[in-house]
Amino acid sequence: MPAQSLFTPAPPGYEPVAARILTDIEPLPCDLYIWRGPRPVLYAMQGGDLRKVIARAQRGMSFLVREVDFDLLRGALAASLPRVMANGRMTPIERSKTAYSIVAKILVPIFSRENPLDHDSLLLTHKAIDGITAHLLLDEEMIWAMLATMQKHIATHTHAINTAVYGAVLAKFMQLGSPDAIRDVARGGLLHDIGKNRVPKVVLDKPAALDAAEWQIMRSHVKAGHDMIVRALGFPPSYVHIVGEHHERCDGSGYPAGRTASGIAIDAQLVGIVDAFDALTSRRPYRSPVTAFDALHLMRVAMRGQFSDEIVREFIKLLGGLNAITAGLEGAGDLVGVMRVAG
Ligand SMILES: [Fe+2]
Repeated sequence: MPAQSLFTPAPPGYEPVAARILTDIEPLPCDLYIWRGPRPVLYAMQGGDLRKVIARAQRGMSFLVREVDFDLLRGALAASLPRVMANGRMTPIERSKTAYSIVAKILVPIFSRENPLDHDSLLLTHKAIDGITAHLLLDEEMIWAMLATMQKHIATHTHAINTAVYGAVLAKFMQLGSPDAIRDVARGGLLHDIGKNRVPKVVLDKPAALDAAEWQIMRSHVKAGHDMIVRALGFPPSYVHIVGEHHERCDGSGYPAGRTASGIAIDAQLVGIVDAFDALTSRRPYRSPVTAFDALHLMRVAMRGQFSDEIVREFIKLLGGLNAITAGLEGAGDLVGVMRVAG
C-alpha cells in the first residue's frame, strides 16, 4: 500500500486524518479511505479492528474520512483520549504529542468562526479536555510530558489547549480544590476565548495597536463567550464564571466589570495568569514570543498589581520544576524557552 503524505490535499467531501491519532480508537466508527487518484478508495470499513488497520499503515500515513462521518470520528477520538494518555506502548512524550493532535483535530472545527457553538460541540469539548485532565491528576510524568510538548505557534485552538493544560496542572500543583474543581479550571481554560469567534478578524488579527472602538469590540469577547456557552448548554455550567472573569485584574484595571482581587474567583485569576503567560510566550504572525523568564518578569514588574503574587509565585515554582524533570524526558529538548524560567 503506498504511503500517503500527511499533506495530501483532501478531495471535496473528505477530510484527512493521520493514522497515528487513531491508535486507541475501537472499534472503527466510520469507513476510512486512501487517496488513489482519481478517487478515494475504501481502505477499512466501519466496525473493523483498528489495531489491524494501524498495524499495516505505514509511518506518516494519513487516511481520508468522508465529511459526513467526521462528527462520528471526532466523538471516537475524544473517547480514545483516556486510553492514549495511559498507553504504555508509547513514551510519555509520544502520548502527549498524540493527545495534543487529537484535541486539535476535535477543536479546530468547533473553534472556527463559521460554526456556531451548539450543544453537541460543547459537550465534545468537555469530553476531550476531561479525558486529559482526569489522567493528569493521576500521572505526574504525563504532566511534565504535556508541558514539555506544548505547541507555541499560537492559533486559537493551541492557545485554548495550552491554557487548559497549564490551568489544570497549576490548579493541581496548588491543591486548589477537588478533582471537579480542577476539571472546571481545564474546561474554563479551554473555552475562555471562545467568544473571539464573534470578534471580526480585522480586529482580532490587527498587527498594530487597537483604537478605542476596536478595543471595545475586542473586549466584547468575554460576554460573547459566556453567553455562547450558556446558550449552547441551556444553563450556566459551574465553570462559566472563569470565561466571564478571565480579563478581570486584581488592581481593578481589567474588564468587563473592573473588579478587584476580592471580587474575582481564584480559579478565574489562575486562568487569567496562564492565559497571559501562554499568549506572551507563543509566536504570533506579527511578533516573536518572549521567553518564559521574560514573560514572568513582565507579569511581576511591568504588570505589577494585575495578577495575584501568590498564584504567580506558585506558577514559577511549577515551571522551575519542569527544568529539572524534562532534562530526562526523551524528545523534550525543544522547550528551552520554558526551561529558562529556572535559569
Ligand atoms: Fe480573552
